[in-house]
Amino acid sequence: MQSNIDTVAIISGSICHKPPLIGNWKCGAPWETIVSKVLGTLADLPQDYRDAMARAGVAPLWPQMRNVLPHHAPVPVTKSHLWAYADVRPLLLRAGELTPVEKAERRVLFLADPGRGQGAMQATSTIYVGLQLLLPGETAPAHKHTPSAARIVVEGDGAYTIVDGDKLPMHAGDLILTPGGCWHDHGHSGTAPVIWLDALDLPLFVYLEGSYAVEAPLQAHRNRPDPSEVEYRAAGHAPVRRRDRAAPAAYPMMRFPWARTEAALRHVAAHNGGTSAELDYINPETGQSCLPTMGFTAMLLRPGVAVRPPLRSASAVYHVVGGHGSTTINGATHTWGPKDSFSAPVFAAIEHKAAGDAPAFVIRIHDTPLQEKLGYYEERER
Ligand SMILES: [Fe+2]
Repeated sequence: MQSNIDTVAIISGSICHKPPLIGNWKCGAPWETIVSKVLGTLADLPQDYRDAMARAGVAPLWPQMRNVLPHHAPVPVTKSHLWAYADVRPLLLRAGELTPVEKAERRVLFLADPGRGQGAMQATSTIYVGLQLLLPGETAPAHKHTPSAARIVVEGDGAYTIVDGDKLPMHAGDLILTPGGCWHDHGHSGTAPVIWLDALDLPLFVYLEGSYAVEAPLQAHRNRPDPSEVEYRAAGHAPVRRRDRAAPAAYPMMRFPWARTEAALRHVAAHNGGTSAELDYINPETGQSCLPTMGFTAMLLRPGVAVRPPLRSASAVYHVVGGHGSTTINGATHTWGPKDSFSAPVFAAIEHKAAGDAPAFVIRIHDTPLQEKLGYYEERER
């Protein structure tokens, strides 16, 4: 499918093939002679045949062919949407009054993709995003599950997540990983509500019929800071390992403190000739994405400088850590401020612009790592 998308196109009504390296497209027969513009429909078939197919438990492919194999690019179901924090926050705080955490296990309002309708547990095809509330003194019991998750802390201090025995403090903007199969529970020893954003590859696991969780009591934690404060304190450094010692953990660093991310973005932006900056969150031992199917980047958007990424085959959800601005996605403009979130479908034409005098900081959650593993991640010029 990849080679078809890359090397075949319809130009001026003819099927054209791109040469393997560089050169002109070679166009052959009119495409109408090779590819039917209009395929047969179910209604074209006699009723007795349709009834017989239904009894036999089969259906014809051709009436639905273009739905699943459209020409040249996918047709996304996902519709771009802005979820204003000012709208969601009061509902979440009210959920804190209406539903005790024991009755919710995880007190979350999820972002429902309007392309899939109210109640859709996904913001894009593969990305689930929810906003979770934990009140002072509350705990969310330990569990582990097949989908991977990451949190971005939205507001409040004093909460923590324990992941496989490491206690990870949660400060605004921090990215905290809970990869699939890792035990995690949450606690809150602060004095005000804490809200964070959960991003999971849940839709993918639901589709695979592979999503489930296992519960356990709250974890005891190690009496040491987490690896982001010890082994992986400085970029470019990792612990020396003797060959006879165990290999590094698959997920060696679970917490990416925002203060460090913002400082790194500001340093890059100070030396990149006046453009905006974007940094990947990576596994410090491998340089690969920090989770198997979801990727995360932190962006510094410089005021007055438009950022127009290529058309990416990946879908994305953006979360504004700080600053104001707007993003135009396929012609529709979302105006955003701190703590807002918005989505973009695959192959979206995107333009970000920070407003005002200060830079804006946005975290991009995307599914590039999944598409790369499946061998079809693609970027197209605009
Ligand atoms: Fe979980």
